[in-house]
Amino acid sequence: MVFDPFDRYDITPPDPIFFISSQAAADQRPEKVDLTIGIYKTAELKSMVFKSIREAEKKLLENETNKDYLSISGHQALIDGSIDLVFGKDHCERAICGIQALGGTGALCLGANLLAETLKMPVYVSKPTWVNHHNVFSSAGFMVKDYFYYDQKTQSLNIDAFFEALNRAEKGSVVVLHGCCHNPSGADPDLEQWKEISDLCKARQLIPFFDLAYQGFGQGLEQDVRAIRLFAKDGHSMLVAQSFSKNLGLYGERVGTLLVLTSEKSGVISHLKAIARASYSNPPRHGGLIAAHVLSDPHLRSIWEDELNYMRQRVNSTREHLADALAKSCPNHDFSYLKERNGMFCYLDLTKDHIESLKTEKAIYLTQSGRINVTGLNEQNVVYVADSIASVLE
Ligand code: LMR
Repeated sequence: MVFDPFDRYDITPPDPIFFISSQAAADQRPEKVDLTIGIYKTAELKSMVFKSIREAEKKLLENETNKDYLSISGHQALIDGSIDLVFGKDHCERAICGIQALGGTGALCLGANLLAETLKMPVYVSKPTWVNHHNVFSSAGFMVKDYFYYDQKTQSLNIDAFFEALNRAEKGSVVVLHGCCHNPSGADPDLEQWKEISDLCKARQLIPFFDLAYQGFGQGLEQDVRAIRLFAKDGHSMLVAQSFSKNLGLYGERVGTLLVLTSEKSGVISHLKAIARASYSNPPRHGGLIAAHVLSDPHLRSIWEDELNYMRQRVNSTREHLADALAKSCPNHDFSYLKERNGMFCYLDLTKDHIESLKTEKAIYLTQSGRINVTGLNEQNVVYVADSIASVLE
């Protein structure tokens, strides 16, 4: 008999976000509403390519002379653009090591593997958090622990429990923080609370690792990095995983960066390059070049910022429409908290049974946790969704 090493693999559960999103895609009912995966949809509920990106691609095609590899650390203009976007043009004196990554997830992985080389402490993620945080850090060998963050019973940020968890965290642990637009809750600390978080991280010698996947979707490009800049000013050695999936619409092109702010630049970049080389060798060229072009060309940059502003306004107004429609359809339930959220995600205060009924009876798809992507709503379907929620709540 031939030795078959593959006969010992059990089937692992599918990724919950991609699984529910594929179920939604396969549903042919005309009234279907897909509120699952975090891909921005237009008012016509279509995916889109940014105009700024199309123009950058056109220029790239006209001038492209080769498809050579990028260097292992990626396209320097993208890294520079990302550093400016995150830390500002006149960022601090401290050393920033940057490397292009395969989207936000790739950036998190690079950071996790870098930390894993020297650190044996736990990694703390918010409860709840983006499901993939657990995979990324446990795959790198870390014990992943939760810090209490958002209370789904009261639909509010539990900042005291968060502070308490930081106070209890083992010195030298890593704390994963959502730079803005917390995924899945949409509830972010205010600046004063961020200051307290920064002070606690300092006092407890915790390593902040910011996941920045939605810059521009909360309050604006500058406002959405206020927490990160505050931490930088406070002198933290820290990491930032920047994703361009959402704010440049480059989901499948896999464009992101990992930025490491450190007082000692020396070896970090060489280790990151070694990790990248062993895993995928060099990052994708096309996405890196077009993203860098949009960030650095003043004309394209201004088109992009207008596009992003428009998207943010649509996200905010859609969330408000939903809250208003729910107030009418479900007068005995309080959904007003939706108006205070940031970004495309928020929770609907529903049980698993409600969520299942919405799917089977109404063709409305949410992730299992009750998270919705509000851009799956528009003026045509928002009342249908609110009425359907009222019917399952009855
Ligand atoms: C999401 O949270 O829906 C997105 O970030 C897509 C993903 O990779 O999970």
